[in-house]
Amino acid sequence: MRSTDIRSTFLDFFQKRDHRVVPSSPLVPSDPTLLLTNAGMNQFKPYFLGETTPDHSRAVSVQKCARTSDIENVGRTTRHATFFEMLGNFSFGDYFKAEAIAWAWELFTRHYNLDPERLWVTVYQDDDEAAHLWRRVGVPSSRIQRLGMEDNYWSMGIPGPCGPSSELHYDRGPSFGREGGPAIDGERYQELWNLVFMQNLRGEGTGKDDYPILGELPARNIDTGLSLDRLAAILQDVDTVCETDLLSPTFELVQQLAGRAYPGRDGSDDSTSFRIVTEHARSIAFLIADGVTPSRDDRGYVLRRLMRRAIRHSRRLGIDLALPDLTSSVIGTLGSTWPELTEHSDLIRQVVTAEEEGFERTLRQGSRLLDTAITRATSTISGRTAFELHDTYGFPIDLTIDAARSAGLTVDENAFAELLESQRRQAHRASQDKKGDAVARQELHRRIVSEHGFTDFVGYSSLTAETTVLALLTPHGKAQAATAGDEIEVILSRTPFYAESGGQVGDRGELHTSTAKAQVLGTRPGLDGLHIHTIRIQEGELRPGDEAEAKVDAAHRSATARSHSATHVSHAMLRRVLGDHATQRGSRVEPGRLRFDFTHNSPVEITPLQTCPFTGVAELR
Ligand code: ALA
Repeated sequence: MRSTDIRSTFLDFFQKRDHRVVPSSPLVPSDPTLLLTNAGMNQFKPYFLGETTPDHSRAVSVQKCARTSDIENVGRTTRHATFFEMLGNFSFGDYFKAEAIAWAWELFTRHYNLDPERLWVTVYQDDDEAAHLWRRVGVPSSRIQRLGMEDNYWSMGIPGPCGPSSELHYDRGPSFGREGGPAIDGERYQELWNLVFMQNLRGEGTGKDDYPILGELPARNIDTGLSLDRLAAILQDVDTVCETDLLSPTFELVQQLAGRAYPGRDGSDDSTSFRIVTEHARSIAFLIADGVTPSRDDRGYVLRRLMRRAIRHSRRLGIDLALPDLTSSVIGTLGSTWPELTEHSDLIRQVVTAEEEGFERTLRQGSRLLDTAITRATSTISGRTAFELHDTYGFPIDLTIDAARSAGLTVDENAFAELLESQRRQAHRASQDKKGDAVARQELHRRIVSEHGFTDFVGYSSLTAETTVLALLTPHGKAQAATAGDEIEVILSRTPFYAESGGQVGDRGELHTSTAKAQVLGTRPGLDGLHIHTIRIQEGELRPGDEAEAKVDAAHRSATARSHSATHVSHAMLRRVLGDHATQRGSRVEPGRLRFDFTHNSPVEITPLQTCPFTGVAELR
């Protein structure tokens, strides 16, 4: 079965069972606690938490996901990928285990026609109900295994919804390993579909299976994820995800460019390189199409790491400047299903070409430093030099080791590993702190919303409002009072202040009570529907519960509106002059100033032939 049919069979099956088809959300999530979208349920998290009520209590989707926690396994195993499409059905307080299990079995055995004798099931260790429901649909006890928290309990890896899970596995036969069911780690029993019974809330923890369960969610929900890659490999009877119709044109191109055939699943370095290059080309194209650009941190670093890994392995195979052609091939295969790839094809080519050329320079600079180190060394290149090459020049350690070996030297790999580990620990601490702050802030907002509801926004029709101070927030939590000189965040029951959105600054203005006067410096969104005002107290004292009058700075609001209109004018003009591909990638809209980011495949020539006397806008040629 072709991948397009696998997708449509899944969507049709659940649509017929009253599920609403929801489009994939982008790979860059709106959730600040998450680096990249890693599961179909991400966009539905507020429904599971009970923060928002969906219009429909059943959904089905094909979600783009990126996961790099297993990056070292990609290429080494047949099944790991850094990008994949996840097919999922969801229930928000509607059906639960019995339906989810019966439907999964029906879809697998009657629509995808998988041989029931080759299907195995795992359930969470004490989930007797799930085991019973699987037996009821016809799975014999001998093919139901019970596993612990690490395998059969699922969360997003961060505080939020979680629950016991049950997985469907497919036995690929003896050529993939020994018998014994999915409890035995390895390639033989391919995990295909994860059914999560979302019912609890998890807190902050130290590992995948080490976190506190804080309580129950408001309702019992279903969240499932079926890997399109893996199911396609089974249904198309191929060994690895690179050989399915999702990736095979790119896989073939890699072989053509390398001038030799893939050696098969023989465990050799070559075999691994062929698969890494193919798989990473797809993630790279999708990440760039969703607005990620290479950088030194966060998701930009994930992208850069994928590109450098792909470049390194393509060099190993003897291919120069591989990524522009390989990402074009990905676009050719998947662009009709995912139009954002085609829409941003110029940008993708531009970004991968620049990165590959930049990496070439890096390698040249690194090589000079390395040559000096080799000339000076008597027997060993120090861990610090290897680390400097890696950290400052992005020069991969295996290249340093290779070069040293050719010169009859060794590298102090232990010292290098220690320096790397200490840097990793530092970066991890920093990112945990950042994540921890974002999570704590979200928790606080959630408590305020559950006590008082969302902010009543009246700013469309009015610039003033009579309101009540609901809470004063500092970076460390709630405050009981704020006095003259304090800068603090305030949440109001009603507000006329627009919150910052899509690069447009939020409103400013004033807040008065019978005892205090404050300047509103800015307004930004908190949890969906909550407005957070940053204020500076000018006189008196402000406390939660105070009645207040809020007043928007009308001049600031209308100057922002003018800049907003100017972005539309600029956009229209750019499209007229440069073409329809010049679409908006971001903007900053403020009184008297705007920045407009757009895509175009070459530098734009600006000729200030004539400056318009009214707007100051230069003519673009
Ligand atoms: N959210 C579950 C997963 O990603 C289905 O495996």
